[in-house]
Parts: sequence; structure tokens; C-alpha cells
Amino acid sequence: MNRYYNPVRTVQGPGALGQLPELVEELSPKGHILLLLYCRDLLEHPAVQRLCSQWGSRVDVCCFGQSNPNVEQLYQMYQETRELEIGLVIAIGGGSTLDVGKSLCCLYASPVDSVEQLREKIATKDYNRPACPWIGVPTTAGTGSEVTSWATIWDPQLGRKYSIDTPANYAYAALVDPLLLGSMPLALAVSSALDAAAHAAESYWAKASNMASKALALEAIRLVMGHMEELLADPRSPGACDAMSQGSLLAGLAFSNTRTTACHSISYPLTMDYGIPHGAAVSLLLAPVAALNCGAAADARPLFTAFGVSGARELGEKITGILSRAGYPVSLGQWGIERQALPQLAERGITKGRADNNPVELTPQIVLEILTGLL
Ligand SMILES: [Fe+2]
Repeated sequence: MNRYYNPVRTVQGPGALGQLPELVEELSPKGHILLLLYCRDLLEHPAVQRLCSQWGSRVDVCCFGQSNPNVEQLYQMYQETRELEIGLVIAIGGGSTLDVGKSLCCLYASPVDSVEQLREKIATKDYNRPACPWIGVPTTAGTGSEVTSWATIWDPQLGRKYSIDTPANYAYAALVDPLLLGSMPLALAVSSALDAAAHAAESYWAKASNMASKALALEAIRLVMGHMEELLADPRSPGACDAMSQGSLLAGLAFSNTRTTACHSISYPLTMDYGIPHGAAVSLLLAPVAALNCGAAADARPLFTAFGVSGARELGEKITGILSRAGYPVSLGQWGIERQALPQLAERGITKGRADNNPVELTPQIVLEILTGLL
């Protein structure tokens, strides 16, 4: 049966952030404080200024601008804000800022007193319903975090990645404003767009895919790939920004129901150990994983058509062409990975919840072959 569910109110389009004050008014948060978690200079945005003047001292602001948030950083944000009586978290930023915002909502309901306790709690998924709602305002077009119910938290010390993951933690609303994307440098804009394309492709072939998620995924890929040239020519182009904003949102809605598969699973140690930006890592894996999966999937043709290619080999050429024009290395060797590191990367690339959602079973040998092909 085709079951699809996503409860997030979405507002997409130029100027969407302008609706924030009315949205908060409508939600009428119960706690005393509105925690505004932000990155960059967004406190100066007129809608944020209007919100601050309406709610006065009830607004508390915190800056969080790091990428790939880790357990220590999350604990620090939690420590800084845990004593406030928070009724709403508003997260304005990239996927990392949104992930920290939604994680805090969970932690306020399940207190911890040390990084070690936090690590234990999220590793064992020992948390209650979120203590308060959150609103997501993405400033990149890629992660889809504004419409998913999980957050990625890294643990470089233990070489692990956690997912703070509960269906109760969908956002109250997402404001997806393409006008916020115009300050992204080319490399970040392309990496984010390819992350969205990977979410959509993986959602399409995921074991958990359904009729609605497939339709959302194909349209997301058409939008992202159909405007890639425009983005490469000018990452500030209003047309490209709007298309990437729509595509990323649709991809997020698609994989909010299906999760990701082999590309994301295999990419995590590449990002953790070698610093390959997430979107670059997952997109390098798209073609070899498509070659693996599409033989098993009966309806691979619409997927390749949406990418504008005839098959997996052409997809690989297209992705590496885009990555190199954005200034990224396109082989694992160029990222500093040596052949002898591949077997352990292959073992660690098989992660629960992602690898087992892939339509073709992943073994260390299969992953090793994929990584060797990218060397
Ligand atoms: Fe991703």
C-alpha cells in the first residue's frame, strides 16, 4: 500500500521568511521564551526584526554556524539554554543549524548532565516527546531538514554518526525562502543541490518508497538538474535559487517518508575521516549505486530521464563534470584516500537504517568495489 505522511506546514517562495511573525502568533507558544537559533547575519532580516520587536524580551538569540554538528557542540548549546523556559525553537540556517534546533527540542524533555550522558541517550534513542515545537527556515537548498523528523549528530571522537530520530519531532512549519540562498558561494550551492538530488534518487529506489514519494522525488530531480547550468553560471541567479529551493523541499518531503540508502550510508566515513563535504561525497556515489540498484528496480528509466541521462555511466560523467566546475576533486584519491584505507571504509560504510533500506543488499565486498571504482 502507498502510505505517505508529513505534517509540516510549508511556505515556499521569495519572501517566505516574511511570514514568520504571523506564524509564531498563530502558534502562540506556551513557554515563556522563543529561542532563535541562527547563523550568519540573519538577525538583521526585517521579518526577524519584526518578530523581535513584537515579542521583546521573550526572544533569546543564540548563534550556531558550525557544519556537521557534534555531540560536544550540541551539549554546549543545550547547557547554554536548558534553564530557559523555552516554548518554541526557531532555527534559521543550514541543515546543521536546523538539526541542532530540532535536537534541542528533544533534549529539553529528556535532561542530561554530561556529554557522556548525551552520547548514551542519543545512541540508545532514550528520549521523550519533544518539550516544544520548532520552526525551520533553511538558508541552503539541500538537506531537507526542515521537513524531516531526524537530526544528524556526529561523534568524531568515537568515529560515529547518530540520528536523533522521533516522528514527534517534525517542525510545526517550514519557511523556505529562495531569497536567503543568494549569499551561498558556488561550491556550497552545488554541493547542497547535489545532496538534494541524492536524497531524491535514493528516496526513489528506497525499499520504503511509495507512490507519493516517487512523484516528489522525480520532480525534485527535474528541478535541481534542470537548473544546474544556471546555478553553475551564477549561484545568485533568482531563477536557479528558486528552483533549488523548490527541488530541495520536494526531495525533503520525498525522503522524509523513505529515508536514504547506500549513497548516504557509504558517504559518512568519507566525510568524517577525510572532510569531503556531504553533498560532494553522496553525489560521487550516485552513479555506482545507481548501476547497482537500477538493475533490480523495474522503473529505473524515469529516474535517469529526470537526471537528463541515458544510464548510470552517463550519470557519473554528468556529476563529476558538475563537481569539477564547482571546484571539487572528483576521485577519492584526489581527496587523499589511499587504497589500503578502502577495506575499513567499506566496513564502516554499511550503516543501520540506510544500508538495509537499499534495494540491493550491501556487503563489504560490494562497497569495496564501489569505492575502488572511485579511487
Ligand atoms: Fe544528505
